[in-house]
Amino acid sequence: MAERTVGITLLGCGVVGSGVAQILHDQGDLIACRTGLRFDIRHVAVRDPSKHPKDLPLTTDISSAIADPKSEIIVELMGGTTTAASAIEQSLKLGKSVVTANKSLLAARGPELFALARKHDASIAFEASCAGGIPIINALMQGLVANRIDALVGIVNGTCNFILTQMTKHAQSYTDALKGAQAAGYAEADPSMDVQGRDAAQKLAILSSLAFNSLVRESDIHIEGIDTLDAADIKYSGELGYVIKLLAIAHRRGDQLSLRVHPTLVHQDDVLAEVSGSFNAVSLFGSATGHTLFYGRGAGKLPTASAVVSDLIATAMGVTPLAFKQLRIFPDALPPTRLLPIEELTTRFYLRMMIKDEPGVLAQITRVLGTHQISLASFLQHELLDGGAVPIVLTTHSAKEGAMQSALQEINKLPPLMSRPVCLRIIDQPKEFEAV
Ligand SMILES: NC(=O)c1ccc[n+]([C@@H]2O[C@H](COP(=O)([O-])OP(=O)(O)OC[C@H]3O[C@@H](n4cnc5c(N)ncnc54)[C@H](OP(=O)(O)O)[C@@H]3O)[C@@H](O)[C@H]2O)c1
Repeated sequence: MAERTVGITLLGCGVVGSGVAQILHDQGDLIACRTGLRFDIRHVAVRDPSKHPKDLPLTTDISSAIADPKSEIIVELMGGTTTAASAIEQSLKLGKSVVTANKSLLAARGPELFALARKHDASIAFEASCAGGIPIINALMQGLVANRIDALVGIVNGTCNFILTQMTKHAQSYTDALKGAQAAGYAEADPSMDVQGRDAAQKLAILSSLAFNSLVRESDIHIEGIDTLDAADIKYSGELGYVIKLLAIAHRRGDQLSLRVHPTLVHQDDVLAEVSGSFNAVSLFGSATGHTLFYGRGAGKLPTASAVVSDLIATAMGVTPLAFKQLRIFPDALPPTRLLPIEELTTRFYLRMMIKDEPGVLAQITRVLGTHQISLASFLQHELLDGGAVPIVLTTHSAKEGAMQSALQEINKLPPLMSRPVCLRIIDQPKEFEAV
């Protein structure tokens, strides 16, 4: 088979960009042998060339690097939503297909960028934007395309999973676990996008738009992060047989979609409970396949670069442009999602209350829950702590979120309560997510 050389421009040569250059260098022969394609990196655009290896074709002139007629595909790995957006727009207007890992940009401006690509007969590939090295977008676009997807449940933020694993397995506080994640390179100096759940929500927006044939925006998603999580709840959850994970959940309920990111109790027998450290996993529930699980490294230089190079190959082979023309699953071609309001969510709950040690308190709490049709599944009481508080931990059977929030407002006013109750949600997969 004759080899074809494909000229490309890399915009960004940081963690992911340098990984792409490394894979194309180290595996160039293997890729050529398998695909008949050899990639020629014509330009590498960066901010500060002095930081980068001199053997790369470095430039700070993004616009010329894109405009080079011999650069067929533009790989955007700068991140952010300003320079990256204008670079992608310039590329698409020139009819050049784009590969990107930029979940923030796609979540914010996906529909208009995809529409622009369509207008100029170009395509956008974005496997690396969600779950790093796990080929989850490929699975949704191809392997599972014959399924109606009923639910998607994912651990899609490695930073949070690393922090939660440290808190669970090593009894660390949130603050210490975050410091450890930063020291190990798993959390950024400003970790707010990760720990407040927004990064997971942006990925959920991208994945659920593909999975459920409706346009999901980050603002559609109910988001709670791990930054207010107390180590006590990890401990008590463990005593009840659960592990706390930050889950991104999209669940079809009739013709509506429930969309949420929050710390969640999963039973210790659940496969997601075993997903530790910086690993990611995504459970998909298909009408034909039932439960499938995708597991792997959700970030990092080479795993993410693997997804980028796979997109490069699919784009150069014409697979992505063809899929882009044929499939009606991209954000510019989708109707808005029909959202299940969070108050209508039905789920099980974990509650922890710190109360004064007085007779009859539990009866007062259960009476309030009962008046809101919330029944108890289990109960855990510990001895008096320093400061005179007694922790009471409850789990409930399935109840409406709205009913629980109303009950909590009443419980919060009970005189024996010493602080606001902690309320977390429990999932029970696979049972809960199979088709209704
Ligand atoms: N890191 C991961 O594990 C991971 C995983 C999945 C997705 N992603 C996504 O991949 C993208 C890149 O992430 P990263 O971790 O590789 O970022 P990074 O390490 O910060 O690298 C960014 C690169 O872009 C260059 N750059 C930034 N702004 C620029 C500008 N205005 N003009 C020219 N060059 C510019 C930087 O140049 P200098 O080096 O000269 O500063 C740097 O080489 C982001 O969208 C991110 O969300 C990352």
